[in-house]
Amino acid sequence: MSRFFSEKFNRLTPYTPGEQPQDKQYVKLNTNESPYPPSPGVAAAVAAEADRLQLYSDPECKALTRAVAGRYGVQPEQVILVNGSDEVLNFAFMAFCDQKHPAVFPDITYGFYKVFAELHGIPYREIPLQPDLGIALEDLLGLEGTLFLANPNAPTGRALNLTELDALISSNPNNVVVIDEAYVDFGAESAVELVDKYDNLLVTQTFSKSRSLAGARLGFGIGSAALIRDLQTIRNSTNPYNVNRMTAAAGVAALAEDAYYMANCRRIAETRQWTTERLEALGFTVVPSLTNFLFAGSPAIGGKELYLALKERGILVRHFDKPRIRGLVRITIGTPEQMQILLDAITSILEE
Ligand SMILES: Cc1ncc(COP(=O)(O)O)c(C=O)c1O
Repeated sequence: MSRFFSEKFNRLTPYTPGEQPQDKQYVKLNTNESPYPPSPGVAAAVAAEADRLQLYSDPECKALTRAVAGRYGVQPEQVILVNGSDEVLNFAFMAFCDQKHPAVFPDITYGFYKVFAELHGIPYREIPLQPDLGIALEDLLGLEGTLFLANPNAPTGRALNLTELDALISSNPNNVVVIDEAYVDFGAESAVELVDKYDNLLVTQTFSKSRSLAGARLGFGIGSAALIRDLQTIRNSTNPYNVNRMTAAAGVAALAEDAYYMANCRRIAETRQWTTERLEALGFTVVPSLTNFLFAGSPAIGGKELYLALKERGILVRHFDKPRIRGLVRITIGTPEQMQILLDAITSILEE
């Protein structure tokens, strides 16, 4: 830390992204990317924009905003486009939390929520998950604070259904409820259909997982026009050109080929089921997942030990060295071939 670094960040612990090693080719099952490439139209759309990079992007992202609104059946004023959904989450912490509106989120969830709260000096309260790593709906009713709920949750993979989401949003009418749907396309129910019913609901989604565009950095938020205006104020006070030309073009092309991505999500859900059964046959406990990852552990080996043994064999998974979950690893669902390599490696590690 330099002597110039603001004192207010003295105790800030930044988010630790999953490893993105460049030294060798790993079977990469650690950051929940899609194992499938973007659809064919994306490369052409990006290449066409590369010739126009001397020009700023459209700060209103009109074409992509219209495409997202059309895909989700909302008005363009209800959509904000962002540089990965992390950005809209950051904006939401800035816009909807303060000393009077603390942030509330589960104790085991996406690690960035705590970092954003600390970054902005926002008080926060963590709600303990149940022993099965699910969330008890009762714990989310009548909250005093802005709720950030990853649904499905990460790294657990569990989700609340739409009836439960409806109940929790209606029980918090004077607080913003942010539902982070980064993984919703892999099988959970989306709260987007509730945005016209509740003015306190913000839904965030990403192109990073189900739409194979993690490297392009594209996400969006959907909510009431008033909530979205607040978020636009924050965006225009930080970086109005937050979505670059190539990424915006990639997003439009991806939505034009949406059937390709939704078919990939179904393939991934099938591979998830197949992998779950194989892991259980090897003695693993697997948390039921509606995402593109599994959270699993075996009494025969520690989580960290398994992570390290897999890494040695060229397979990357994610381990969180935290109470209650250090016995587990989070495994991204890859192709069936990648999952076979993983299962073979686990079998041989357990035999050693
Ligand atoms: C629950 C959750 N929310 C949001 C994100 C952010 O994704 P991105 O910024 O790539 O859209 C992630 C990424 O892993 C995530 O796991």
